[in-house]
Amino acid sequence: GRVAVLLGGDSAEREISLLSGQAVLTALQSRGVNAIAIDVSPDIAERLRSEKVDRVFNILHGRGGEDGKLQGLLEMMHIPYTGSGVLASALAMDKVKTKQLWAASGLPTPRFSVLHDNSDWQGLIEELGEVVVKPAHEGSSIGMSMAADASALRHAYEKASQYDTAVIAEQRIRGAEFTVPVIHGESFPAIQLSTSHEFYDYDAKYLAQDTNYLCPAPLTPEKTTELAELCLQAFSNLGAEGWGRVDVMQDQQGRFWLLELNTVPGMTDHSLVPLSAASRGMDFPELVLHIISGGAV
Ligand code: DAL
Ligand code: MG
Repeated sequence: GRVAVLLGGDSAEREISLLSGQAVLTALQSRGVNAIAIDVSPDIAERLRSEKVDRVFNILHGRGGEDGKLQGLLEMMHIPYTGSGVLASALAMDKVKTKQLWAASGLPTPRFSVLHDNSDWQGLIEELGEVVVKPAHEGSSIGMSMAADASALRHAYEKASQYDTAVIAEQRIRGAEFTVPVIHGESFPAIQLSTSHEFYDYDAKYLAQDTNYLCPAPLTPEKTTELAELCLQAFSNLGAEGWGRVDVMQDQQGRFWLLELNTVPGMTDHSLVPLSAASRGMDFPELVLHIISGGAV
């Protein structure tokens, strides 16, 4: 059989996907898997057919590849693929839907509001306090900023609007940031992130050398278990499958707050799922094989 690593695409996270995909391709080939890379464009169906692909490792980040569209095409073509199906992918790419579903099941996620051109900026700040403004369907912190007053909120909204038709303002949780991979029903060791940037932004994620990653995260055994269970619930609540990574804040009282689920997490050399796997002795090629097959290629 032949594996296609689907990468690139035309989302705002294209560059990250090219890095993730190259790493995945190299790992598969290093383990003797017959794998090729395909940069996804509108002729993808023809490419998959002409290359005689019978299995996909999907490493497209963002819209088009992480949001259910590609998953629908692969379902129609009867080609098995890594990660979540159509619905869970679409839900996880939409921060409004994700948070509504989590909140409806009693899972903790910060309060938020969808912004519009004529939102009551002052009223929102009074209601939510300092907020994080985000495009509703982006990844890698693209278009994101913090706002603590009405005019900053309006500016943050205008910035985020350049990336998306839907923008949310989410109550900012001050505290520590964690991320937890979930792979084939199992939570992997949590990573705690710390950055000298104001938050864990695009540069802190991919460029800075002074972002610190603590893995396993320095939590008590009780909190470690609580966080792992919360992330498994967050994952299955959206119907996610295969693999993903849940981003979480912990407030100063020790409570965890779910931010989002990434259904195609980064796999670059700055990325977090590989770091977590390494902390339990799973190297990068093993991780890639585990994701595509549950370990048994
Ligand atoms: N959206 C990026 C790739 C991540 O979550 O790792
Ligand atoms: Mg994300």
